Amino acid sequence: MQVKRAGILGIGASVPDKVLTNFDLEKMVDTSDEWIRTRTGIRERRIAGENESFSTFAIEASRLALEEAGISPSQLDLIICATVTPDRPLPSSSCYVQHILGAEKAAAFDLTAGCSGFIFALTVARQFIANGEYKHILIAGGEVLSRVTDWTDRATCVLFADGAGAVVLGEVEEPAGILATSIHNQGEYAEFLTIPAGGSELPTSQETVSKRLHFVKMMGNELFKAAIRYMSKVSEEVLLKASVKPEEVDIFIPHQANQRITNAVAERISVSREKIYSNIDRIGNTSSGSIPIALHELKEKGRLPKGTLILMSAFGAGVSWGSALVRM
Ligand code: UT7
Repeated sequence: MQVKRAGILGIGASVPDKVLTNFDLEKMVDTSDEWIRTRTGIRERRIAGENESFSTFAIEASRLALEEAGISPSQLDLIICATVTPDRPLPSSSCYVQHILGAEKAAAFDLTAGCSGFIFALTVARQFIANGEYKHILIAGGEVLSRVTDWTDRATCVLFADGAGAVVLGEVEEPAGILATSIHNQGEYAEFLTIPAGGSELPTSQETVSKRLHFVKMMGNELFKAAIRYMSKVSEEVLLKASVKPEEVDIFIPHQANQRITNAVAERISVSREKIYSNIDRIGNTSSGSIPIALHELKEKGRLPKGTLILMSAFGAGVSWGSALVRM
């Protein structure tokens, strides 16, 4: 069987209009703009309105990605939504996206891999293109984390944000395309980042609600160290897989969790600071949305000409981590 090369045909993104600044947060919890900026790099983030949900942003991002790709929704074979904040526990949000877009022949499912969701989805989708099973695949990654954020917990509420990005994948000619991907998990560290209640282990009850167990609980220090270690390791792994040297990378797009994590990873893998793309100051941590939103911004700035070599790396709940090396 001849293996086909999967690549990115179109990119889109959508974030809420509402801006929440660090100064707004100062009025909500015991924090300061100075602490948030110096510890995380975040100045402001976007927060969904009352009538908005994951699919609001996923659909808008997908429409833009389809438009750039020149693909109609009816040509899509598969839709993967990477999210931990779907519109509802059931059915998958990808079903809403499929219906609203009018992608009637596309299969659709959600994929959950914490903040690494977009890289996991890219890795899965790539296989279907490579083996010729599907021609066009839409990936929408994003979150409405504000709905699972405890707005009384200063350790987490200053980090998370809402929004989504999307890409359309299809067959491309070498040297463009996805050169290498790699994904990993270490379930031993599941407690580092979790929403304890609302699943089959601890169903929703008045007690779980009053104990605030439906909000994200995070062991920030542990995640910080693991993120640097694993994002560095997996970035080196994909570079090696594709026989690419760090200095050949044009742009490094890390999951936007913390500017200090990003800088430490770039230093460890010998990618120079000016190649890092960061939007955490304006967008915050949108989990599975962070890499495709960054991709869209780069495209809008004209920074993704043909041939651009992009290294993407992510780390998140599970714990999970992954990396992808993509040439435009
Ligand atoms: O998206 C993937 C998953 N998430 C991550 O990868 C996040 C990784 N972790 C981090 O980014 C960092 O650990 C945080 C930004 C969450 C925390 O930064 P840190 O430098 O590790 O701070 P810390 O947790 O060690 O806390 C230092 C101090 C503590 O006070 P004491 O005990 O030293 O008196 C905290 O209580 O800062 C305090 N603190 C705050 N102070 C003001 C914690 N949150 C805040 C806050 N404002 N928002």
